[in-house]
Amino acid sequence: MRLIPLQNAEQVGKWAARHIAQKINAFKPTEARPFVLGLPTGGTPLSTYKALIELYNAGEVSFKHVVTFNMDEYVGINPDHPESYRSFMYNNFFNYVDIQEENINLLDGLADDIDAHCAAYEEKIKSYGKINLFMGGVGIDGHIAFNEPASSLSSRTRIKTLTEDTRIANSRFFEGDINQVPKYALTIGVATLLDAEEVMILSLGHNKALALQMAVEGSVNHMWTVTALQLHRQAIIVADEPAQQEL
Ligand code: GLP
Repeated sequence: MRLIPLQNAEQVGKWAARHIAQKINAFKPTEARPFVLGLPTGGTPLSTYKALIELYNAGEVSFKHVVTFNMDEYVGINPDHPESYRSFMYNNFFNYVDIQEENINLLDGLADDIDAHCAAYEEKIKSYGKINLFMGGVGIDGHIAFNEPASSLSSRTRIKTLTEDTRIANSRFFEGDINQVPKYALTIGVATLLDAEEVMILSLGHNKALALQMAVEGSVNHMWTVTALQLHRQAIIVADEPAQQEL
């Protein structure tokens, strides 16, 4: 595992964006095999999306031949809801770059048949062979995507019940009201993430310090799903100074 220790969110965003751009630019895409990028939402990746848009505006990267898969979505929330992960992605990234609409893959929290929808998502990822680079954040309790504590490390895309801690943490996006935060979410599994050629996890702020300590110094276990990164041959953690406090 590679740990990239930086000072602040801006530096983390710039480093992560440049890394993604380098990977995309080094790749020779074909119609059948575009670059496949896994993406997260949340507060953490905002500085990376900002930096990626800057690189795009400077002509240093294009998303024309990039296919994306987002890692999670709330269940029961309208896709047009301002806090749906679909809205987040368009408002913070997709609307500002040259990605093609048909190359965007998002989980649908209103799917009628959730199991079939999740299975189809996995199949679609497989149809490209593999995800080239999966970027993610980490929850205070060490979850990656919405793989809450006690998720199987061999899990695939499925529905998960959100923990009270996660709903409290995410209530900041819902007027501070936990009752407005959905109780369930669709999420890629830990194994879906580990299948990617490369995984890059971003960690910002002192409230992620314990999760980062577990990821780097703890043992692999399903109570802190971020520790599964230790099983991956090409995992990178990019962290700001406050997140490194417990290392
Ligand atoms: C959320 C998301 C995760 C995210 C994590 C941290 O609930 N499902 O994908 O990485 O929790 O979020 P934030 O970056 O806002 O701290």
